[in-house]
Amino acid sequence: MLQSLGALYVIITAGLTGLVHSLSTFQWPNPQLAYADKMLYESTLGLLAQGCPPQDNSTVPAQWLRIAYHDMSMHDVDDGTGGLDALIQFELDRPQNIGQGMFDSLNDFRDFVAGAPFLGTADTIALGAIFALAGCGGPVIPFSAGRVDTTEAGPETVPEPQQDLASHTEAFRRQGFTPTEMISLVACGHTLGRVRQVDFPLVVTNTEDFLQTFDTTTNFNNAVVSEYLQNTTQNILVVGPNVTTRLDFRIFLSDGNLHSFLSSDTFNETCGNLIEQMINTVPSGVTLAQPISEPFDYVVSEPLFSYRNGTMSMATTLRIVNPSDNPSRTGHPARPPDVPRHPHTLFKFSSVLSFWFKINENNGSDPVIVDNGGSSFAIGQDSVFIDNSRSEFVIFSSSLINYQKVVMVVHGDASSSMSITTFDPHTNASTPPYLPTIITTNLQLDDSNPAEGGFTFFTVNVSSTVTFLNISGNVGGISYTQENFDMTAVDFTFVSISQ
Ligand code: HEM
Ligand SMILES: *[C@@H]1O[C@H](CO)[C@@H](O)[C@H](O)[C@H]1NC(C)=O
Ligand SMILES: *[C@@H]1O[C@H](CO)[C@@H](O)[C@H](O)[C@H]1NC(C)=O
Ligand SMILES: *[C@@H]1O[C@H](CO)[C@@H](O)[C@H](O)[C@H]1NC(C)=O
Ligand SMILES: *[C@@H]1O[C@H](CO)[C@@H](O)[C@H](O)[C@H]1NC(C)=O
Ligand SMILES: *[C@@H]1O[C@H](CO)[C@@H](O)[C@H](O)[C@H]1NC(C)=O
Ligand SMILES: *[C@@H]1O[C@H](CO)[C@@H](O)[C@H](O)[C@H]1NC(C)=O
Ligand SMILES: *[C@@H]1O[C@H](CO)[C@@H](O)[C@H](O)[C@H]1NC(C)=O
Ligand SMILES: *[C@@H]1O[C@H](CO)[C@@H](O)[C@H](O)[C@H]1NC(C)=O
Ligand SMILES: *[C@@H]1O[C@H](CO)[C@@H](O)[C@H](O)[C@H]1NC(C)=O
Repeated sequence: MLQSLGALYVIITAGLTGLVHSLSTFQWPNPQLAYADKMLYESTLGLLAQGCPPQDNSTVPAQWLRIAYHDMSMHDVDDGTGGLDALIQFELDRPQNIGQGMFDSLNDFRDFVAGAPFLGTADTIALGAIFALAGCGGPVIPFSAGRVDTTEAGPETVPEPQQDLASHTEAFRRQGFTPTEMISLVACGHTLGRVRQVDFPLVVTNTEDFLQTFDTTTNFNNAVVSEYLQNTTQNILVVGPNVTTRLDFRIFLSDGNLHSFLSSDTFNETCGNLIEQMINTVPSGVTLAQPISEPFDYVVSEPLFSYRNGTMSMATTLRIVNPSDNPSRTGHPARPPDVPRHPHTLFKFSSVLSFWFKINENNGSDPVIVDNGGSSFAIGQDSVFIDNSRSEFVIFSSSLINYQKVVMVVHGDASSSMSITTFDPHTNASTPPYLPTIITTNLQLDDSNPAEGGFTFFTVNVSSTVTFLNISGNVGGISYTQENFDMTAVDFTFVSISQ
């Protein structure tokens, strides 16, 4: 279960050579998989949906599931266009996409979009659908990262309640679903949430009804079907006053096979499979990463370096999943929301560009060697890097915006040059679409960190909300780059300034 995962950060010892050992994890580095695992099992996004909580006369999970369907529903199997691609955020003014839930969802997701290649808005919408089901007691479906956000306008093909059965059948065929799958998927979707009078006044015609639920329960279950089959349903899309908009009635009636959904297991399984298909529907040419259905055994975070007084230091973490919380291990449990941000172990070394781990349970068993499948964890270069211990996270006591003073090191003199490109998911936009801010800046020499030991220090101020950056440096005519440095893993010193 997503909600009951226990993870353990363990103090480990590091070695400088590798031993062959096979492990159930991915080949490092793989920022996409590492970040996908982190969002699934360590982030607080899932907590927003846990317990199926209310939001603006609906529920958080209902809003998240509906936006996922609407975004995906512009897919066209015939030409391979459309799918889950975050296009929805540009189309909220279309009548098809009306509803506060769309704005609420994008606001909820906003802080969790790290950006490609980690997680863009479309991947976050997919994660939202997964957490929506899990949060309301529904099936747990695997997550595959890799969707590509798009900004090109799509066709106005999201189904609408007043359309007839033939239009809906054709719309679902175009999305990649058979008529039977359409019936199931509509039931799977309309087990959550409601129709709001302010959004659909022609469906909920009585202005004193603020909302009309699809069934008598909030959770993800087959009540929407059983109540329909028992003829007790109050679903306004089945028995509502406006016959034209009784879309669930037309769709449910089109197949006698709906009885199979009276089995909770069948409902669970069918809905899990169909919603997985739904969120994995992407434009042709987009390839999704391997599905994650349980946390990776060992995840190594971004290695952090510092050079001082002739010594190069490196700090990183190794996450070990231990649901049984074995007390003989050294460490502490990391469950959302108390996941420790910086459980680092410090290693000191010089001129070593690879590392591995040895985990000793101290319980009589042989230590486990974690060495990236025999190849060790290798660092590409140490000629340009961020100095983790000289960098600062600057916090103002006044309302001034916090920033990070990033100190970069080059193994070279002051004739070197450095620049960074930062990715910040935040903009100052107050309504969707929320597009990231990408800025390239040339660095200045850092007066407060004079050159030492052949290393020269440069500096730049970046926003406190930058999630990752690319570094490029030119040292003695040779170019060095480091791509996709994970700023959410840094451990900068906090500096408070009162002004
Ligand atoms: C013929 C296709 C469909 C039509 C015409 C349709 C129409 C509607 C309408 C009119 C609402 C009320 C929205 C509001 O008041 O804000 C609604 C809600 C909802 N729909 Fe659908 N729907 C369709 C298919 C689906 C599918 C396939 C799913 C997902 C698998 C889905 C998931 C939802 C959810 C979760 C809600 C509740 C939203 C909330 O409470 O905020 N729908 N739908
Ligand atoms: C929610 O419903 C109440 C009435 O129950 C209404 O007063 C309020 O405006 C609604 N809120 C939203 C955000 O639609
Ligand atoms: C549906 O699946 C979830 C997780 O896979 C499980 O917790 C829940 O009990 C299942 N519900 C039913 C009715 O089988
Ligand atoms: C029923 O819905 C249709 C389609 O939205 C609309 O044209 C019609 O005016 C509605 N009827 C009533 C009585 O509200
Ligand atoms: C369902 O209930 C309605 C009234 O609530 C009734 O008119 C109708 O005949 C019932 N249909 C079935 C199949 O029992
Ligand atoms: C570095 O060396 C200087 C001078 O020898 C000393 O004052 C300082 O404490 C040292 N810093 C660290 C982090 O070891
Ligand atoms: C030691 O702990 C590990 C990890 O929990 C476990 O796999 C192993 O079986 C334990 N060994 C003994 C002898 O208990
Ligand atoms: C960083 O480099 C990668 C690979 O070239 C690229 O895909 C990504 O967009 C770059 N990120 C930024 C913020 O420029
Ligand atoms: C923030 O808003 C100002 C004024 O509307 C605009 O000039 C600026 O480009 C915006 N910044 C970002 C990062 O969107
Ligand atoms: C970073 O911001 C501080 C405070 O505004 C300023 O004093 C410093 O010069 C800035 N550094 C750079 C490299 O722009």
